[in-house]
Amino acid sequence: MNYQFPKNFRWGSAASSTQTEGASLEGGKGESIWDHWYKEQPNRFHNGVSSTNASTFYENYKSDIQLMKDIGHNSFRTSISWARLIPQGTGEVNQEAVDFYNNVIDELVAQNIEPFICLYHFDMPMAMQEIGGFENREVLDAYANFAEVCFKLFGDRVHSWFTFNEPIVPVEGGYLYDFHYPNVVDFKRAATVAYHTVLAHAKAVVKFRALNTNGNIGIILNLTPSYPRSQNPADLKAANICDLMFNRSFLDPSVKGEYPQELIELLKEHDQLPVILEGDCELIAQGKIDVLGVNYYQPRRVKARENAIHPEAPFMPEHFFDYYEMPGRKMNPHRGWEIYEKGVYDILTNLRENYGNLPCYISENGMGVEGEEKFLVDGQIQDDYRIEFIRGHLEWLHKGIDEGSACFGYHLWTFIDNWSWSNAYKNRYGFYQLDLKTQKRSVKKSGEWFAEVSKNNGF
Ligand code: BG6
Repeated sequence: MNYQFPKNFRWGSAASSTQTEGASLEGGKGESIWDHWYKEQPNRFHNGVSSTNASTFYENYKSDIQLMKDIGHNSFRTSISWARLIPQGTGEVNQEAVDFYNNVIDELVAQNIEPFICLYHFDMPMAMQEIGGFENREVLDAYANFAEVCFKLFGDRVHSWFTFNEPIVPVEGGYLYDFHYPNVVDFKRAATVAYHTVLAHAKAVVKFRALNTNGNIGIILNLTPSYPRSQNPADLKAANICDLMFNRSFLDPSVKGEYPQELIELLKEHDQLPVILEGDCELIAQGKIDVLGVNYYQPRRVKARENAIHPEAPFMPEHFFDYYEMPGRKMNPHRGWEIYEKGVYDILTNLRENYGNLPCYISENGMGVEGEEKFLVDGQIQDDYRIEFIRGHLEWLHKGIDEGSACFGYHLWTFIDNWSWSNAYKNRYGFYQLDLKTQKRSVKKSGEWFAEVSKNNGF
C-alpha cells in the first residue's frame, strides 16, 4: 500500500436534499426558491428539468443506503430541507418530514454509516424569500430556530452538523451573477446577504452550544485557492483581493470569529459595507466552529485587470482582477474545469499555518462529466478518468496529512448522479449512474474502486 490513511478515516460521499429527494411538492413540503423559480422560468434549467422528482431518494432511501454500504461508505453527508421540515420557514413542523429524516438517519446508523448533516444547501423556503430571504434579519432568527429544531429532533444520533454548504454560492448566484433566484445584481445587497449568513451561522452555533448537544458543529466552504498569474505586485494584489472576497469572507469569521480588517477596509472604501448593528461582532465571535468541511473542485487563476471598467457597469468583484487561463493547464474537458490536484494540499497547508490546523475533511471533490453514457461498456460506466481524478487528489491529501494537517476524511461529490440546480442532470458526478427514465442505479467502475480504497483505508 503506497498511501495508507489515518485510523478512522471517513470515506464516503456528499449530496443534498433538494438534489436527491424528489417529492419536492409532496409529503407536506413547502415550496423552496427552486420550486418557485422553476414555475416562473423553466427555461433557466438544463433541458427544462426541475428538482420535483430529483433522484427519488425520498422513496428509495433504504435501498440507496444499502448501495452506499456496498461501496464502503462509513459516512455520508446530506442536508435537511428547511422547507420540508418547516414548510413556511417558521411555525409548524411537518411530521411527515420528521418521520422521513428519522428513517434516513436510523437507516444510516443501522448500516454503520455516520450521518453528516448540513442545514442549508442553497434551498431557501419560498415563504422566507418572500420576506427578503437573508436580506431580512427576521429570516436569520427563523433559520436559527430551524437549526434548533433539528438539533433537538436528531441530535441524539447526528454528531456532525454543518450550518451551511458553500454559503458564498447563493450570494454569487442570487445577488451578483444571475444563476440563482432571486436574480439580483447588486454588490451591496450581496454583501448584506453574505454578512447576514455569517450571523445566521453564528446564531445556529449559539443554539447548538446552549443545548449541549453531543458532537461537533461546523460549516462547509468552497475554498477555491486564488493563484496569481505571476509574482508581479499587480497580479499578487488581484489574487489577494479574490482570496479576501471569495474565501476569507466566510473562512475568517467562522474559524477566527472575526472578519479580516483588509476586507472591511476594501468594502468601506467602495461604499459596499452592509449595515452592522450593535452586538453583531460579539455574535460572530461566538460562531467559531469545531470542524471545517472543504469543498474543492478547481483553482481560481487570476491576473491584474487589463482594461478600464465601464463607468456605468455595476460594481463587481471583477473590478479588481481578470480571470487567467494558464497555458498548459490540465483540463476536465467534459466539464470545462481545470484539474489541479495540488490545490487540495495548498488548502490544507493554509489551514495548518494560518487557521490553527482545526479538524477538517474534504467534504466535496469530484469530476462532472457531460454525456457520460458515451463511456458505457457492457452496461457499466468505465470512468477511469474519475478514478485518476480521485487518486490524484488523495495523493496530495495524504501528503498534507503526513505533514501534520488535521484532515479526517474524504467525500466525493456525489453518491448517485443527481440534479444540480440550473444544470439539472447535465454533468454527472456519481459513484452510481442514474437512468433518468427508469431511476435504475448502476455502479460505475469508480464506485467499485472506491469500495477497495475504503476497505484498505488507502491504495
Ligand atoms: C458544488 C455544489 O459546488 O457543485 C453542488 O455544492 C453542485 O450542489 C456541484 O451540484 C456540481 O455543480 P455542476 O454545476 O457541475 O452540476
